[in-house]
Amino acid sequence: MGSNSALYDPCPPLPNVQEMVRSDPFQVPERYIRDEKDIANDAGLCSQLSSEVPIIDFSLLSNGNKEELHKLDQACEEWGFFQMVNHGVATEITKGLKDSALKFFELPLEEKNQIAMPPNDIQGYGHSHVDQVLDWSDKLVLVVYPQQHRKLDVWPPSPFKEAIETYSSELGRIGEELLRSVSLIMGMEKDALLLLHQELVQPMSVAYYPPCFMPDKVMGLSPHSDKGTLGVLMQEEDVPGLQIKHKEKWVPIKPLPNAFVVNVGDIIEIWSNGKYKSIEHRVVTNKSKARISYSTFYIPHRNVDIEPLDQMVLETPGSLPLYKKVTYGDYLKQTQKMKKEGKAHVTEVAKIAN
Ligand code: OGA
Ligand code: NI
Repeated sequence: MGSNSALYDPCPPLPNVQEMVRSDPFQVPERYIRDEKDIANDAGLCSQLSSEVPIIDFSLLSNGNKEELHKLDQACEEWGFFQMVNHGVATEITKGLKDSALKFFELPLEEKNQIAMPPNDIQGYGHSHVDQVLDWSDKLVLVVYPQQHRKLDVWPPSPFKEAIETYSSELGRIGEELLRSVSLIMGMEKDALLLLHQELVQPMSVAYYPPCFMPDKVMGLSPHSDKGTLGVLMQEEDVPGLQIKHKEKWVPIKPLPNAFVVNVGDIIEIWSNGKYKSIEHRVVTNKSKARISYSTFYIPHRNVDIEPLDQMVLETPGSLPLYKKVTYGDYLKQTQKMKKEGKAHVTEVAKIAN
């Protein structure tokens, strides 16, 4: 996602999924139904693997602990995902956000639609992805930082608004700190990646995944990789749903109390010349319980040239860049036009064919 609305082609209005389920829980329109095999592709789903997703201690990272930095390096290389504990965000803040989000989603549709996403924008309350087959979810998307990018007319009412503000300010601190650690493991000065962003843009997406009476026929969120540099997700502690592709299998990320889920986005993959992986992930639904998730993304300014960093190219066998140079704005524009198919967009837009 990006900071400039002109990047986004108009898209047709879509039904509100939460409302559909409320009016008839036993109806799933054709447009949401997927090929059984697309979902059952998780036949080999190994739930015991979930507990192997690396756990990284944020406070150790920010103290420059060598061992933890090494764990971070391994996690980004082998998994592209990790659970982050000791992030220091107070429970009142996370709970404040969760409580107010729940109240917001429980409002009547007309009230939520006061901040509806305009047809040519991605900010505001509306649908999830627009694709051939639709996702079983609704979401609220806002660009939170830099402050001058805020479109306050699509911000939710109080106290949700303030809760987003407070949480996002904490997440701003965490994002900067994480980028410092990633700079270090890439062999650079602490602030190198922050500087490379020119401007650290921080969008947030609060997604509502209603239950579905036939969860194996729909998908909460289609397989995709994130187009920014890093992502930090807070998920519900008692409702799983997120799955990541690891060694050709879908591995569920079990919610860990008070942990955030961090992932490498496409831009870190490109900067690292493929050493760190932007991993495909998706969200599955369940029969009985709605799930709300809170995704924070960090993305560079749209004029920034994205290309593999010299020292990472030298680390690559053959010392060749595997991705071509593209401005971030062009990257967004080109990938947005493509049909969403996992991370095919990275290969097509940025990868150098050999
Ligand atoms: C996303 C995402 C996961 C989730 O918004 O890009 O992957 O659990 N969300 O909602
Ligand atoms: Ni994602």
